Amino acid sequence: MKISIINGPNLNLLGQREPGIYGNQTFEQYFVDLKTKFSQIEFDYFQSNIEGELIEQLHRVGFSFDGIILNAAAYTHTSVGLGDAIKAIDTSVIEVHISNTFAREDFRHTSYLTPNAKGLILGFGMDSYRLAVESFL
Ligand code: DQA
Repeated sequence: MKISIINGPNLNLLGQREPGIYGNQTFEQYFVDLKTKFSQIEFDYFQSNIEGELIEQLHRVGFSFDGIILNAAAYTHTSVGLGDAIKAIDTSVIEVHISNTFAREDFRHTSYLTPNAKGLILGFGMDSYRLAVESFL
């Protein structure tokens, strides 16, 4: 099984960015544990701060992978293009967020992704990614 994880803007700063909300771990540290736990899965990981690069990555993996886990970060709340990309590809996308966006500012309550995603997992910290992997198994 091939699963692609795609992280959006500012998630390269996990571990140092607003630790009270996002924790102290870098994604790279967490990813080591995730790969160990699911050693039978072939993971691909991509992070970008650029909207168009995230769309291109969805196009690259969206016709051959078994699942996509997407944390589009701030673009979740603004990007019609990412929402359309999810609709355009064959592979199912699980939208994830580390924080509970509904417990935060109003602008984080809107997602352009959720209507086209297979499901949504949020608010479980980094564990949101593990739960998304489980959902594909
Ligand atoms: C986030 C939530 C978004 O609102 C925010 O812009 C992020 C991270 C999360 O994982 O909790 O950058 O997607």
